[in-house]
Amino acid sequence: MTPFNVLLVALSFGLSARAQSYSATYLPSNAPNHSEKGQTGTNKCGTAANQTSLCQNAYLNSLDDFCLFAPPKPGKGSDIGDSEQIEVSWCMNDGYGTRLIPDGSIHGAHFVQTPDFVQITGTGDLTSLNIPKGDEGGELDPHGADGNGNPIGGLVFSSAFGQLEQLHEWTNFMSSTEFCFRACKPGPKAPQWCEHVYDLLGCEWNMPANYAAGTFEQCLGDSGLPMGVYGSSTFEQGAPHTPPPHPIPKSSSCSKMSTIKNGAIVTSSSILPSTTSASVSTTTSPSSGPSATAAGKSSGGVLTIALPGWERLVVTAGALLIGSMVGAVIVL
Ligand SMILES: *[C@@H]1O[C@H](CO)[C@@H](O)[C@H](O)[C@H]1NC(C)=O
Ligand SMILES: *[C@@H]1O[C@H](CO)[C@@H](O)[C@H](O)[C@H]1NC(C)=O
Repeated sequence: MTPFNVLLVALSFGLSARAQSYSATYLPSNAPNHSEKGQTGTNKCGTAANQTSLCQNAYLNSLDDFCLFAPPKPGKGSDIGDSEQIEVSWCMNDGYGTRLIPDGSIHGAHFVQTPDFVQITGTGDLTSLNIPKGDEGGELDPHGADGNGNPIGGLVFSSAFGQLEQLHEWTNFMSSTEFCFRACKPGPKAPQWCEHVYDLLGCEWNMPANYAAGTFEQCLGDSGLPMGVYGSSTFEQGAPHTPPPHPIPKSSSCSKMSTIKNGAIVTSSSILPSTTSASVSTTTSPSSGPSATAAGKSSGGVLTIALPGWERLVVTAGALLIGSMVGAVIVL
């Protein structure tokens, strides 16, 4: 076959397949040092927490087992908008090779698991995660202007839907006082439930939920409505009139904790393991897993476009290109 034919075969192969495609899928145990070009941190994180870690693997498992992306260092240039490409993972639990969220930073947290996503929302003093005081923040997602994500190479894992797995679609808003992080169950509608184009509209518009301080709870919930979708019309950020947020979806089976903590005494630059606690850190790390699987089943990105966001178009083109390249390899 000529290269041109190979490309055509690859493309049609892709078009008949699944709605989304990703160039690779990882587990923490097989993730490479860098999953994206231009990445400043790492996905090969080991297990020991460390307040200077550059780990960019985040976990979203439960009320007391979640991570947030935040700047690697404090000070000038660390506004979320300025540091989004290089942010690192801060977690409630040891065992992931990330930094730990210092105890007391989170003032209220609400974890909800729905049929389509898991989500944590809340408030806190996130200056202890190097976010400058007063920073109104911004949005992180795996797409970014260059398609490599913000942070570049950030990966999200969860065992909420079964075995620990990578959740490719996620969105995380961070400011100095508020956070929200949603990661979506793999499936054709994941990009919609984790839509990332409304990056100027903040947590409460994108992820209507409980944000109250003083409460730490975990619930089951309905998925509600995908952000930006109002009946048959889809709002485009920047249009003259911004519609109100969707109502907070119903939740049930809530359980509460008085607070959440990791038991380690950490400041933003050091960890002093607590001599007494040793309570938490029962994390599972699968002993084996599929190695990075190339999913050349591309193209559906095109079919699922609801909004002509330019980021989306870049991503789609990239996915097609990767799909066709992998397809070409398979054909050969
Ligand atoms: C792994 O990534 C880190 C952070 O980007 C970098 O400092 C280190 O040199 C990399 N290690 C290897 C072996 O490439
Ligand atoms: C934390 O990680 C840094 C490298 O990022 C390393 O130099 C340091 O020794 C580690 N600290 C501990 C306590 O493991």
